[in-house]
Amino acid sequence: MFYVLPNPHAIAEYLSNLLVQKIQENPKLVLGLATGSTMEPIYAAFVVQAKQLGLNLNDIVTFNLDEYIGLAPEHPQSYHHYMQTHLFKPAGIRQEQVSLPSGMCRDVELECVNYSKKIQAAGGLDFQLLGIGTNGHIGFNEPGTPFSSLTHVVDLSENTRRDNGRFFEDKSQVPTQAITMGIEDIMSAKEVVLVATGSHKAEVMAKLFETAIDEDMPASIIKSHDNFKIIVDQAAAELLP
Ligand code: F6R
Repeated sequence: MFYVLPNPHAIAEYLSNLLVQKIQENPKLVLGLATGSTMEPIYAAFVVQAKQLGLNLNDIVTFNLDEYIGLAPEHPQSYHHYMQTHLFKPAGIRQEQVSLPSGMCRDVELECVNYSKKIQAAGGLDFQLLGIGTNGHIGFNEPGTPFSSLTHVVDLSENTRRDNGRFFEDKSQVPTQAITMGIEDIMSAKEVVLVATGSHKAEVMAKLFETAIDEDMPASIIKSHDNFKIIVDQAAAELLP
């Protein structure tokens, strides 16, 4: 269940191959996507490979896990902007194929209900890609989030705001709230792959390894999924038994 690869480059190659294979098997793949530093080399490798192969991406459908409340799509730290930069634009994936929660909607509660419904209406997620926060969050589902949650508004923890502060000019600019897919939305995916790289993730990966299924460690739920993988590089694996 824990797979250890040498480094982020090897993980990127592995995930890129896996994504290509999934899309070749099912050109209408419904893909759940994450943002963050861990995903950058993965998307970069996938873009190169997809281009080399002339992979048909015209019919895939994507849903992102989360978005900050209050950031417009063109804001450089918004997840809309991240996805356009790292994946959608370079891979030629069109706007109408992709969904992210809107951080600028007037009625956030309605946005949340509609987002989970939209995933279900697309037939559910075939494959969900996940990173993990140093506090064990998946998407922005912070410790203590009920496993039964659907898409919802989150007050971001100080830990998460501190971790993500590195992307902003100063920490006070980090939004205090986000919309995230819920844990039930994530778990309803047919296949889930969680990725962690770097020594700063070693502690949380050791905790994830030891923890039984527990809402205080949101990522632990994926260990109960029928089809999951946890992929770490050697640095993130250094405290695993
Ligand atoms: C972002 C997301 C988050 C990140 C996590 C790790 O869409 O879902 O759960 O995956 O915060 O972020 P990085 O990869 O920047 O360490």
